[in-house]
Amino acid sequence: METRPPYSKSARLENDNDHNHSAVPLDEVLACSTSELPGRTSRKRLKIDGRDILIIKYGVNYYAMDSVCYHAGGPLYDGDIEELGGRLCLVCPWHKYKVCVDTGQNYYQSVDPFHPKTSVKWTAGSQRQRTHAVRVHEGNIYLKLTDRDGTLDSDKYNTEKQDNL
Ligand code: FES
Repeated sequence: METRPPYSKSARLENDNDHNHSAVPLDEVLACSTSELPGRTSRKRLKIDGRDILIIKYGVNYYAMDSVCYHAGGPLYDGDIEELGGRLCLVCPWHKYKVCVDTGQNYYQSVDPFHPKTSVKWTAGSQRQRTHAVRVHEGNIYLKLTDRDGTLDSDKYNTEKQDNL
């Protein structure tokens, strides 16, 4: 099954006074224009520095995370965006795992076996899907990748290394 997109070009910003990028921190990457995510809810998949990234717009908020599902490499980028138990989640089409878009935590309903009818509650587990910092400035979306911060389960499905497997 094909899981890779026709990637968009991104541009790493340089410390170049000629281009007047002084307002943009050096560790941020220009991802795209906000006009590329129209409407109240939209998404855009792109590749930045060899990483498969999904940008999600929901209302006035923007989120970024690894595109491919941490569980088994499913197309999380195509999943439904749902508000569940007060959290905004992406639901993976393959096995219906839910991922919080702001934190990358897996999200599930837990049950106290001694009180199964009254104890069902939404619970956020540990971070499994890598998220990335998003900043919107003058109609552009900038990302700060977090791929140098330890290892997460989604890393193995969202890098150039995975492309070559
Ligand atoms: S691959 Fe996404 S839930 Fe299994």
